[in-house]
Amino acid sequence: MRIGMGMKGIWMAGALLACASVTGAQAASISHEEAHRRAEALLKQMTVEEKVGQMNQSSGITMPGLGGEKPDALITQGKVGSVLWLTDVKEINRLQHLAVERSRLHIPILFGFDVIHGYRTIFPVPLAMASSWDPTVEEAAQHLAGQDARAAGIQWTFTPMVDIARDARWGRMVEGAGEDPYLGAAMARAQVRGFQGAELGPDSVLACVKHYAGYGAADGGRDYDSSYVPEDLLRNVYLVPFHAAEEAGAGSFMSAYMDLNDVPATGNHWLLTEVLRDEWGFKGFVVSDAFAVASLQTHGYASDPQDAAYKAVTAGLNMDMASLTFTHNLPALVKSGKVTDAQLDAAVLPILEAKYELGLFDQPYVDESKVDATLSRPEGLALERRIAGRSMVLLKNSHRTLPLSATLNKIAVIGPLADSTKDIEGGWTVEGLFGGASKNHPVTVLAGLKAKLGAQAQVSVVPGPALSRVYPSMLDTMTGNKPLPQPTAAETADWVAKAKAAAQQADVVVAVMGEGANMSGEAASRATLDLPGIQLQMLEAAVETGKPVVLVLENGRPVDLRWAEEHVAAILEAWYPGTEGGNAVADVLFGDVNPGGKLPVSWPRSAGQEPLYYNHNLTHEPEDRPEFTSRYWDLSSKPLYPFGYGLSYTSFKFTNLKLANKSIKTGEATEVQVDVTNTGKAAGDAVAQLYIHQRAGSASRPVRQLKGFERLSLKPGETQTLKFTLGKHELSFWSPQTKVWAVEPGVFDVWAGEDSTASLHTELTVTE
Ligand code: NOJ
Repeated sequence: MRIGMGMKGIWMAGALLACASVTGAQAASISHEEAHRRAEALLKQMTVEEKVGQMNQSSGITMPGLGGEKPDALITQGKVGSVLWLTDVKEINRLQHLAVERSRLHIPILFGFDVIHGYRTIFPVPLAMASSWDPTVEEAAQHLAGQDARAAGIQWTFTPMVDIARDARWGRMVEGAGEDPYLGAAMARAQVRGFQGAELGPDSVLACVKHYAGYGAADGGRDYDSSYVPEDLLRNVYLVPFHAAEEAGAGSFMSAYMDLNDVPATGNHWLLTEVLRDEWGFKGFVVSDAFAVASLQTHGYASDPQDAAYKAVTAGLNMDMASLTFTHNLPALVKSGKVTDAQLDAAVLPILEAKYELGLFDQPYVDESKVDATLSRPEGLALERRIAGRSMVLLKNSHRTLPLSATLNKIAVIGPLADSTKDIEGGWTVEGLFGGASKNHPVTVLAGLKAKLGAQAQVSVVPGPALSRVYPSMLDTMTGNKPLPQPTAAETADWVAKAKAAAQQADVVVAVMGEGANMSGEAASRATLDLPGIQLQMLEAAVETGKPVVLVLENGRPVDLRWAEEHVAAILEAWYPGTEGGNAVADVLFGDVNPGGKLPVSWPRSAGQEPLYYNHNLTHEPEDRPEFTSRYWDLSSKPLYPFGYGLSYTSFKFTNLKLANKSIKTGEATEVQVDVTNTGKAAGDAVAQLYIHQRAGSASRPVRQLKGFERLSLKPGETQTLKFTLGKHELSFWSPQTKVWAVEPGVFDVWAGEDSTASLHTELTVTE
């Protein structure tokens, strides 16, 4: 942790001030104790069916397989505690009126939705925001997103997704903060703060930490597939961001879909009760992922729906998302005594408490007249542009190709993502989910470049064929997004020739390529990491002309850049930068913003290297030795770009790495300091990163582990001294032999620098 507040704290404060209360909520927050008292009193009046009702989250959309009919009748009977997948404010109000006015106990509905990276103003995807290495970015974005959502009738978001992702084939890498538990924990805490504020209240949104847990470790990177994660790896890596979010006060969790070590997460007592409640002291509630209670039978874990309900509720699950398995089976289980009244009450209580804390009983309805004005606040778009610029990672910049000159005259823009409004915001947008055009008019890279260059510039555009998944996702089917035929040889040749001709006429080529927004996310795993379609051929054609080619990437995971890294002049990773994304890309390309983002994942050379992560253990024959090493014989086992990597338009030097105490006892801490100097000619942001390695102990420890980071802005020639702490929090681990968290005596390597290969080194000795 750094001592003192840098520039980022100041910009963040501004961002939060700019977005003060928008719901106009009159009701004041009530304390958790008061919410508890009221919830207990209410519980005493409830029938078993009404209690089970609170544990049912109904689908707000009617589709075969998703419930089939509107939940009106269930609502008036008091059998719906929550509704999801509904964003039409009129319909939200209509259902809420039914619950509050026509159900016996007048308990309001909690409306939940996936507000993952914005509501109408869409921020960069979470993997991008994590690339900022600036938790205040996440906090500011989620604060605004939460306020927008709340104003539009959503009081609960299924965010943050804190799954560790070590395998780029897994499509949901895009939704999280990457591979590292320390960075992931910081981003998780920031998001909880952003949504919930200091405490839950009538202006905040309940966070939901997901997917608990081990979901990112799916076999083969295939979404939903089983995860096999030993307990020490769970505790030292996969559970770390979950615990951090819980400690930050997250009010709800979501159980994951998959089998964890052969026990589905949604029926996993160890996860849901022993760790989450008994060890961590979690007081909120856990919702299943969609249909996951019913899926306990599909997994081959429950024999029938009643067994599924029994296994889920006794494991510690509070709410059934969309499968109606609790609704149809739990009352009988309680009446037969298999599930006790005490178990039922314990499951319902935190749901009611959250409703009280959120102020839902006092103010259940949405003020429809204010929604549009709130969601279109210009300060939201300004914040989005700023955050997008802060989240981009410059991967290559040979011969100072970037920044581009503002007096550029002729520019060729190629690639299927150059002007694609449906891709620049990434997945999980309200409009993307339910179809229809975005009301916020996303700015594409082409539009951003044109706006920056002005009318005098000549911009030629060659998009090439639109990108398309070979196998459509469920969402594609729902939104009528049909897979397109692959281009024929003749069509390919034609596009390639056009790309080449446009490049030949231009001073510089900007290629906007990557993956379509539906190519990452849920059920979007990949077996290869190639640039889909004919993008590489178009890129090759542009490079052949000898003109400088800048590759701007929009993608949700690393893609295979081996050819591009060798041949194009510059590569900017923009991920999916959001509503103002095109303007933010232009800001970076023309140097109005100096890129300072860093990779939150190790960048593989090829899919065959996955899973690939920097914090692996040492092997007995590391890659650097001459023979019998652990590497592949046909490819390095090292990443193309390491975890923590990213360039700037300036350069930095790290010096004077010093420990306040070179030797400490196991219970003590020491300060570490390092000087960071801007050695270049432009002002810019560095991210100081601190890594450790425990040389020996009761278990093999990772070759490096991130244990501190700080993003800082430096003027040319300026030096800042950063201070970090190494103590119990940083040095302890959960040992598979001792089965406890402890700091073990021994020697620790300590490095500080710009990425996970930093060489500036010192040693810390820890004694009994
Ligand atoms: C399924 C996804 O796995 C989860 O992340 C999401 O929150 C729910 N559906 C609700 O949409």
